Formats: sequence, structure tokens, C-alpha cells
Amino acid sequence: MSEPVLDVQQLTKRFGTFTAVDAISFSIGRGEIFGFLGPNGAGKSTTIRMLCGVLPPTSGQARALGIDLFGPTAPVRRRMGYMSQKFSLMLDLTVEENLRFFGGLYGLAGNDLHQRVERRLRELHAWDLRAQLAGQLSTGERQRAALASATLHGPDILFLDEPTSGVDPLRRRQFWAAMDGLVREGMTILVTTHNLSEADQCDRLAFILGGRLMACGRPRDLKASTRRWVLTLRTERFRELRTLASGLPGVHDVLLQGRSVRISFPEGVDPNSLLGALESRGFTFTAQAPERPSLEDLFVDLVRQDRGAA
Ligand SMILES: Nc1ncnc2c1ncn2[C@@H]1O[C@H](COP(=O)(O)OP(=O)(O)OP(=O)(O)O)[C@@H](O)[C@H]1O
Ligand SMILES: [Mg+2]
Repeated sequence: MSEPVLDVQQLTKRFGTFTAVDAISFSIGRGEIFGFLGPNGAGKSTTIRMLCGVLPPTSGQARALGIDLFGPTAPVRRRMGYMSQKFSLMLDLTVEENLRFFGGLYGLAGNDLHQRVERRLRELHAWDLRAQLAGQLSTGERQRAALASATLHGPDILFLDEPTSGVDPLRRRQFWAAMDGLVREGMTILVTTHNLSEADQCDRLAFILGGRLMACGRPRDLKASTRRWVLTLRTERFRELRTLASGLPGVHDVLLQGRSVRISFPEGVDPNSLLGALESRGFTFTAQAPERPSLEDLFVDLVRQDRGAA
């Protein structure tokens, strides 16, 4: 990686005796979409809030564009944008008033501000919303307006905390397409999500659990690191097949996905021996070639390991 846009070392936040963020370290390169994944209460928002200057850290370092984020940082903060999980807009202002207000905070004014507001609202399919009060917008509309507001000043680093939570599937796609556009403009994005198909679109991911960073890497590499494969079988008798497969030697886990049975097994186990064992019990099915576990499998594994260790 060239000089990282964001470099975080041993970042920690304690609330009294409770450690919400526990010595997290990671770096993000220019133009990356970096995803934060983790269960509720894992420490994702707390981490972002420290990096955005909303919350002072207990200890640790962070540098953005080479500048210490916890030092006298006013100039670098102008190069960051933040869309918080809850309140990113003033609810009693219209969308356009919000953008003009937040743009003003970032030092934009006059014709430049006017043009940026119009351009962003049009790009993010929010132009028609400009005269509406932010408090009256639907969730998807509010998120679009909030993204326009967080990106008006053309930040280098954009922090998006669950930007698509509560947004319908079509708008989600549009939101991610808009993020791609922002990356092409030169932005680097840190985004949290509970949606694993969105997570799969990130360049790299960090899994956070109990305030600790449990795994970090490209989605493909994270899936391969499980050292497991998954066979997906389709059969009319999917419930019976699930029960039988669960008892086969070498099987790690079996779960239903719709009417398909997903059998996960460690590297080294021959999938043909599993298929043969099922056929010999009279099952007929169609089988896909073995593939790596999904991010959902990985997520469940990490949470289980953590509970086992606790
Ligand atoms: N100001 C605070 N005082 C005390 N505890 C806090 C404070 N802010 C956050 N916490 C606790 O820190 C933990 C991490 O919270 P955080 O909001 O970072 O989780 P998260 O990963 O963003 O979860 P979610 O997916 O639900 O948004 C939680 O247990 C939360 O209750
Ligand atoms: Mg959160």
C-alpha cells in the first residue's frame, strides 16, 4: 500500500471500566472502500466517532493524510466527511438549507457553495427533495440528503456509519453506485454495514467483535482463510437431507438457505465422498461445485469462536 490515507494504531476507548474499543489497528489506502462489520455493540460507531473528532480516545494514535488526528487537527478535519448513524441533518431545516448550513461550516460560500449543492443533489437523486423539511423525509430520502451534505466539500476521507440501514434494496444499490462515483472523484470511504452482500462489495473488511479487530482483509482472502468449502445441494427432501448430512463424518456445519442445503466441510475432506454417502442413502439432488464459505458463514464462525472463548 502507498502512504495510507488513514492509519490507526492501538485505538482504545473506555467508558468507566468498560472497554468499548480495544486496541484496534488498521490502515486504509487511497480510493479504498473499507467496511466495518460486527454485531450490535461491537464498537464500530465508537471507533468512527473517535476518528471524526466527536469523541476523545482513551489511548492510541490515528493519522489521516499523514497528520495526527488527535493533535491540533482543524485543517485535516476539513478534508473528512462524516455521516453519523443517527442524526446527520437538522430536522427543522429543508434539505437545501441543511446543505448550505453544513457547507458553510466547511468554509464554502457564494456561487461555489450554490453550484456544489445543486450538483450533489442532482448526482444523488435528491434534487426534487431540496425544498422538503429533513424531518419529513423517508429513511431512504434522508440518507441520500445526508450523503449529499457529508460530501459537499469534496472530502478525501468519508466515514459512513450504517448509511443504508432501513433503505430498500433498489435504493441500497443506488447508494452503493453513488459511493463508487465518490471513489472515482478521489474519496476513500470507511463504511459500516450489517448487510453482508454490501460488505462483499468492499475492497477490504474489518470484523469487529467486543471492541477487538478479529479479522481484516479482502473479502475473498477472508473467506479462503476459513480453510473450508461449502457444497450447495438442491433436493425436494431438503429437511431430511439436512438431518442426514449433519451426522456425516467430516461435516463442519449444515444449514438451509431457502430450499437448498449448504454443507460446509474442512479442506482435505473429499466432497465426492460426502456426495456418495448421501446418494447411497437414496437421495437424489443437484450439486453445485464446492465454493468458499460466504461472509455470513465467516461472521457466524467468528461470533461463535468469540462466545466459546468468553
Ligand atoms: N457514551 C457512552 N457511554 C457508555 N457506553 C457507551 C457509550 N457509547 C457507546 N457505549 C457502549 O459501547 C459499546 C459499543 O457501542 P457502538 O455504538 O460503538 O457499537 P456498534 O458496533 O456501532 O453497534 P451497532 O451495530 O448496534 O451500531 C456498546 O456496548 C455501547 O453501549
Ligand atoms: Mg453503530
